Amino acid sequence: MTPAPPTRRILSGVQPSGKLHLGNYFGAVKQHIALQDEGLCFYFIADYHALTTIQDPALLRDNTRDVALDYLALGLDPDKAIFFRQSDVPEVTELAWILSTVTNMGLLERAVSYKEKIDKGIEASVGLFAYPVLMAADILIYRSHLVPVGKDQVQHIEMTQDMAGKFNRAFAEVFPIPNFRLDKESKVPGTDGQKMSKSYGNTIDIFAEGKPLEKTVMGIKTDSTPLGQPLDPDKCNVFTLYCLFATPEEKAAMAADYRAGKIGYGQAKKVLKARIEEYFAPFRDKRKELARDPGLVEDILQDGAKKARAEAEATMELVRAAVGLKG
Ligand code: TRP
Repeated sequence: MTPAPPTRRILSGVQPSGKLHLGNYFGAVKQHIALQDEGLCFYFIADYHALTTIQDPALLRDNTRDVALDYLALGLDPDKAIFFRQSDVPEVTELAWILSTVTNMGLLERAVSYKEKIDKGIEASVGLFAYPVLMAADILIYRSHLVPVGKDQVQHIEMTQDMAGKFNRAFAEVFPIPNFRLDKESKVPGTDGQKMSKSYGNTIDIFAEGKPLEKTVMGIKTDSTPLGQPLDPDKCNVFTLYCLFATPEEKAAMAADYRAGKIGYGQAKKVLKARIEEYFAPFRDKRKELARDPGLVEDILQDGAKKARAEAEATMELVRAAVGLKG
């Protein structure tokens, strides 16, 4: 039998749903990158999952390349983390099937994310319903210990714990029970004050610059307090966003200016726009450089898939033997 994996394994997946925004960055990506030095990381682009909502092959391909470029530009280091495309390890669908046989219908029926997607008008396909089973397979096939995610994914990790426990009890102790790790900064407000999310159309893109960025930032919703009047920083989306980029001293100074009526919303937005642009400038340059080499991203993903697949195969040998499919 293969010995238990010695180092802590960290895994997360990202759906290829278009351009990354500040909510993605401060909620997830920044944390993923920082964790590269804290264990063996598996990061993948969840293209199988994306099929539950995207039925446009060119769009899926473009989004996949975009998110890969984004992650690499933002500091994902393929020498440290295993970075790959979910569908390049098709064994994960085999594990999803096996896990579905130890997954109670009731468990999936309680999935909040499924209900939310249906309410938004997404078709209630079997794939969408079984989404958490595939996600559990993603996590368990690499025998992961830690899964950094946003709050909306916590229930899926709890379901994974349930499936892993059931499998282990029914067959053999193959899977460590994974834990999630939440990021503190995952509440990034969008331009309308709701949580920043693609589905609300309130995002600020990480790689935006110049006029388009200015237009977005100037459109952040604020109240109608006239210029020169004191403002409450704690109730202002512009200030909340500024805090993501500012040092404690800068935050305090900006808050004081708000309260003293020394700064208006328009001016605060200009400062915010400049900070966003400045913060992401080196990443933007890196992204442009990476994008110039057409084969580079694919080579990196293929190399990652090779490593990931070897791990997945080792786990599947144990799984198949445990359930009686082989051996
Ligand atoms: N469902 C996750 C999301 O929408 C993406 C995902 C797929 C994932 N598989 C995963 C996240 C496994 C963590 C672990 O954000």
